[in-house]
Amino acid sequence: MSSPVILITGATRGIGFAAAAQLAARGAQVILSSRDGARAEAAARKIGQGATALELDVTDAASVSAAVACLQGRHPQLDAMVNNGAVLLDHYQSLTELDPALLTETLLTNVVGPLRLTQALVPLLRKAPAPRIINVSSGAGQLDGEPQAWAPAYCISKTALNMLTQQFTAALPGMMVNSMCPGWCRTEMGGAGAPRSPEEGADTLTWLALDAPHSLRGQFIKDRQVIPW
Ligand SMILES: NC(=O)c1ccc[n+]([C@@H]2O[C@H](COP(=O)([O-])OP(=O)(O)OC[C@H]3O[C@@H](n4cnc5c(N)ncnc54)[C@H](OP(=O)(O)O)[C@@H]3O)[C@@H](O)[C@H]2O)c1
Repeated sequence: MSSPVILITGATRGIGFAAAAQLAARGAQVILSSRDGARAEAAARKIGQGATALELDVTDAASVSAAVACLQGRHPQLDAMVNNGAVLLDHYQSLTELDPALLTETLLTNVVGPLRLTQALVPLLRKAPAPRIINVSSGAGQLDGEPQAWAPAYCISKTALNMLTQQFTAALPGMMVNSMCPGWCRTEMGGAGAPRSPEEGADTLTWLALDAPHSLRGQFIKDRQVIPW
């Protein structure tokens, strides 16, 4: 069997890069995307064998079309895609003062971007025998606990991303679609004080892309376990 082809958005640093390195080390053909093509090339070179680069901004329809055309030229099928790229723009803002434009910007990257890219990649995913879609979400989007007054736009976007997971699960019966939470990790987004390394955060992502049973669908997963929405 040929090695699986896996696209990861926002893969030049943090959890996306750590996952790309883990997947390439396991023999996958990993495509690292970034809004900056040169940054993607540098990250792919750092990983070496099995890694290639792709310029892609999920907020830009033309960029998504060009990236998908490029992928179709390079690969006969796509085995997995990881919607990992995201922004956190409102760390310590109160919802009472939040500029709606900031919520719009956050939703465009964290929700509409994954929607647009997933839609565009469905034909290439359908060519794989057991396609997998992984949405990198966050416990910040969970609805089961006490409400937290932290990063409201980001939290709203991750709740919406989780619903995107459920909706794509219903819309794509043959595909394994899940949300995952990496936990709080030491990345540019997570900050230096986080308890987990990016590699620890990437573990469940790598497991979902390569090892988890294909029957595991429409779930929210952390540390390889199903968690409540
Ligand atoms: N760190 C944590 O504690 C934590 C906790 C829970 C969930 N998460 C989630 O884990 C994922 C990775 O986070 P991280 O901590 O590794 O963050 P990070 O280091 O800030 O990396 C985020 C990535 O998103 C990409 N990105 C931003 N806007 C994009 C766009 N319009 N199109 C494509 N890519 C875009 C950036 O890529 P370029 O600038 O190269 O384009 C960047 O590489 C995110 O979905 C985040 O919400 C993180």
